[in-house]
Amino acid sequence: MLEGFDPAEWGLVPCRLGTWQGIVYLDLSGEAPPLERFLGDIVPGMARFDLGALRRARRIDYDVAANWKAIVENYLECYHCPGVHPQLNKITPYNLGAYLPWSGPFSGSYMEVLPEYETLSLTGDAAGRPMIPGMTPEDEHRVYYFGIWPNQLLSLHPDYLMLHWITPLEPGRTLVRCEWYFDPVEMAKPGFDPSDAIDFWDMTNRQDWHVCELQQRGTKSRAYTPGRYSAIESSVQGFDLMVADRYANDGIVTPQYRVSKQESTDALRGRARGRLKSEAAAD
Ligand SMILES: [Fe+2]
Repeated sequence: MLEGFDPAEWGLVPCRLGTWQGIVYLDLSGEAPPLERFLGDIVPGMARFDLGALRRARRIDYDVAANWKAIVENYLECYHCPGVHPQLNKITPYNLGAYLPWSGPFSGSYMEVLPEYETLSLTGDAAGRPMIPGMTPEDEHRVYYFGIWPNQLLSLHPDYLMLHWITPLEPGRTLVRCEWYFDPVEMAKPGFDPSDAIDFWDMTNRQDWHVCELQQRGTKSRAYTPGRYSAIESSVQGFDLMVADRYANDGIVTPQYRVSKQESTDALRGRARGRLKSEAAAD
């Protein structure tokens, strides 16, 4: 034994660990509040599900030439959907949905699956898969999207869960790990084939990474100037405020005005519904 060397003083770095819905969270600082308090309203809001009981059917890694924040921002809005994702926009139109008026280090929203479809897949149907346990009749035609600070994207469909893990590799390069989870009861059935859902999102993912890479190139231009948020990008602003708060590192958490987000979404939904009604009346 070395003189003056106490192994207890030079051990591995202790690390706090918590789990929520089967997902493991680590706190290297040792200063974070208990996990459920950190996560906020998403914990009671999603308590009807047991996502940890689902099992992974597939994982695809993507090496994206864009900053990680551009990828999270892209996930948090669907203003780009009609142009970038015609297949997705056909099943869940960009203007039908709402922000969830919940508090916590995340942006939460849902989008509506049109009545003639069942889920996000190449065909729009669920290939016989029932809704995952815990779904209510209200959930039947919704896809829930959560961007959880800092690097987790959680997308809950009626019949499956998709997770994206965002890992910055370099300022202009990000590893995006995408995983698809299903009810193990369904996975055990003969003929279980999730490829309609996986292929749909693999296509949609690649559409997103393409525009994120274009954006990354654009921001490098000397002519680049930041644009304005549109009325349906307030969750992007919410994420940007979380980034700004961490950069400032002054302990101040900027309020995100979630009620006005809800109001703006309700107004947009009302306008979209009115337009659909007037189109139907004109037919
Ligand atoms: Fe997208």
